[in-house]
Amino acid sequence: MDWRDEAWREGLKITLDYNSVTSRFIGENGISKKEIDALLPRAREAREALSKGRSEGIYPFFDLPYQDTSLIKLLADDIAKWAENFVLLGIGGSALGPIALHTSLRHPYHNLLSRRGRGKRPRMFFMDNVDPDAFGSLIEQLNPEKTMSCVVTKSGGTAETMAQFMVVRAIMQKALGKRKLKKHFVCITDPEKGNLRKIVQSERLTSLDVPPGVGGRFSVFTPVGLFPAAVSGIDIDELLAGAADMDRRTKEQNSLENPADMLAMLQYLADRKGRHISVMMPYSSALRDVADWYRQIWAESLGKRLDLKGNIVHTGQTPVKALGTTDQHSQVQLYMEGPNDKIFILLRVESFARELPIPEIYKDIDGMAYLGGHTMAELINAEQAATETALARAGRPSMTIRIPEVRPFTVGQVLYLLEVSTAMAGGLYGINPFDQPGVEEGKILTYAMMGRPGFEEKRAELEKLKKSPEYVI
Ligand code: PA5
Repeated sequence: MDWRDEAWREGLKITLDYNSVTSRFIGENGISKKEIDALLPRAREAREALSKGRSEGIYPFFDLPYQDTSLIKLLADDIAKWAENFVLLGIGGSALGPIALHTSLRHPYHNLLSRRGRGKRPRMFFMDNVDPDAFGSLIEQLNPEKTMSCVVTKSGGTAETMAQFMVVRAIMQKALGKRKLKKHFVCITDPEKGNLRKIVQSERLTSLDVPPGVGGRFSVFTPVGLFPAAVSGIDIDELLAGAADMDRRTKEQNSLENPADMLAMLQYLADRKGRHISVMMPYSSALRDVADWYRQIWAESLGKRLDLKGNIVHTGQTPVKALGTTDQHSQVQLYMEGPNDKIFILLRVESFARELPIPEIYKDIDGMAYLGGHTMAELINAEQAATETALARAGRPSMTIRIPEVRPFTVGQVLYLLEVSTAMAGGLYGINPFDQPGVEEGKILTYAMMGRPGFEEKRAELEKLKKSPEYVI
């Protein structure tokens, strides 16, 4: 049985448990039924605006689960035949989705496995920074003959990605010569615009498109996420089937039955009640980068100065990622007793690929004997339940996304759910969740500092802002 089978899909349905957000469960710090009901008309408006935009083609991310993946798979399989190393060059939305898919759906030590152990797939490297030490050290390790680079940038001009590309291209050309170079690059960018597209055309490089109208942080189900996933051997059709299943559920008109609406509404209401920080805490190492991906989509989409009417609003919750159980021994003291300014989204995996029994040894030591005979899977889930209960008792709101097991179908549901709830939250806040003027400003200042033609005025502005040595001690 697979994702084509309805009973199989039903058994792998993720759920949103929001008991521990409600005032019924956590008392006056919780959200009441009355507050939820009062928000329903706004939620309906937001939902209708999104449905209208979807039918007019303004929000193409909604329809990504239904694309044809044959070309992506063909290209990926072709590369997997010869490449020992796959290096993704990209940043922000052009890296976080591929990283989240890789960490959650591949072996935790994929790159340490033999080629056979990796399913005859390349080692995977995701380079999303321009730290010269980190970047240089990796490049030095890789044999150019066996290395394939995937340059991902929607705009085709982000300074970090273009610098990475330039460094790698020069090294590859030196090692392989211009003629053999082509085979070693795949570019994923806008189908028409940007410098990378121009290079693709003039140098006849292989490329895949980022569909117009899909922003970086909503691009995990485009070739940006799907191509690296397919190269590493992830079943991308199952992933999209999970997203499609969540699409069906998040089309529900009654917000009380719609997991995306409820997630957005509860986070929005919590923010309005002073929970300005949203902590995502997976109790699963595999899902730790899903929390990192969430951090971007929630922050960049909802952190806005202006609302749709042009009023200054400065909206947005600050998303934080934590990892269970690791951060119970680092952050949870603050979460329990520090400022009550957070709402928690806990991710719980019901069934791990391994149970890992804890041996029944040290039976004569009380503080250890109780562990023997249980499994590590039981322990991590007991800790998740304990944290949820302890937070509730301290009047700290939390929700739990229950995931039957971590596999493409469930990860597809989780990511799509978070995309739709982000779009919904944008509607509740009355802002545009699909732009990122703050990020663009940073990019422009970088161009000015690095001397890019056309940015002289900005550079002059920056020169005037010279720092005073008096304030450096
Ligand atoms: O979500 C976004 O739009 C951003 O985070 C971008 O993905 C990021 O700035 C990288 O941009 P690009 O893909 O154009 O290189």
